[in-house]
Amino acid sequence: MIYLDNAASTPVHQKVIDEMMPYFAQQYGNPSSIHKFGRTANTAIQTARKRIGDLINAESKEILLTSGGTESNNTAIYGTSLQSKGKHIITSSIEHDAILEPCKHLEKIGYRISYLPVDRHGLVNLEDLQSKITQDTCLITIMFANNEVGTIQPIKEISDIARKNKIIFHTDAVQAIGKVPINVNELGIDLLSISSHKINGPKGVGALYIRKGVMLSPLILGGGQENGLRSGTENVASIVGFGMACKLAKENMNQNIDHFKNLTSKLIARVQSEIPKTSLNGHTEKRIPNNTHFTFLGVNGEDLIIKLDENKIAASTGSACSVRTQKASHVLGAMGFSHEQITGSLRITVGITNTEEEIDQTVDTLKKVVQELRAVSPYKNKYNF
Ligand SMILES: Cc1ncc(COP(=O)(O)O)c(C=O)c1O
Repeated sequence: MIYLDNAASTPVHQKVIDEMMPYFAQQYGNPSSIHKFGRTANTAIQTARKRIGDLINAESKEILLTSGGTESNNTAIYGTSLQSKGKHIITSSIEHDAILEPCKHLEKIGYRISYLPVDRHGLVNLEDLQSKITQDTCLITIMFANNEVGTIQPIKEISDIARKNKIIFHTDAVQAIGKVPINVNELGIDLLSISSHKINGPKGVGALYIRKGVMLSPLILGGGQENGLRSGTENVASIVGFGMACKLAKENMNQNIDHFKNLTSKLIARVQSEIPKTSLNGHTEKRIPNNTHFTFLGVNGEDLIIKLDENKIAASTGSACSVRTQKASHVLGAMGFSHEQITGSLRITVGITNTEEEIDQTVDTLKKVVQELRAVSPYKNKYNF
């Protein structure tokens, strides 16, 4: 199989597995225990916390360990809203459901949410953002990079607006981490969500960066772990793995970015020149280097995924969650795409293990299956296939 769905999840790096292994059957102590087993587990967590912080230029004590991007986003949203008197949140219309669903829930219990529109490339408008701010705004949450089309938002400009208005700024950086250098201080970010399984770490672990001085209410109460912000015995092995994944992501960042760019530029060039009536979605430059997202006119994206799967290629139409709920992509809808353009879309996201040969094989297969699907397409005559 050729795996080209790295935005959904990534293979766990062998060095990550090696780092995790001792924490299952040998170093199994509870990090809160005083004895040596406990102290060893606790030290391993602190090493991991430092590695996670280093990746985004944060201090260890600013890292809250969570179960992943979803929990980090929920903690950022509920944690700030429960603390603040303000009852207005600004977000964008193309966020992941792990932002949109908590926002919708808060709306039901009396909060007001402004969903910023985006342009054809998936970018929010800074004047729109400025115009939505009121005395009541307690949080601005806008994603770093989109999970479907890969568009990168103007994070520094957004944080400047948030700072000027003394509003907390959160960004969901789950798709950006490891693909763009992130320095939370230079970018003026207050809260930032990341997830381990997008950077060759294990699933079910992530972090929320919380700038020193930003107050959050805890969502999970109990034994007081994580400075009282998230109770529950820590997932030691996974945290250790996540730490190693962050270390590797930092050490190999430039090399990985070059590798991703090399593969995606080859893929884009070949698809655009060899498959007619095809468009690349998202922004041409402001996009994460591992993402490509195409519309093949007259083709149903899900049929395409199935055909590719039969040909041993794993790709996606967009976010895994949208597939489960069977709803049309709200991201492409917000970008002004027609129903036909939305259903004809395909996301191909590369990772560290992919090769140029795999890209060539994928384009060759794509050419063949797009042609097959167009031959039986209801739009056959409309587009003269
Ligand atoms: C932008 C974005 N935010 C949040 C998440 C959820 O992260 P997790 O799977 O770690 O809960 C994802 C996962 O695909 C994502 O792409």
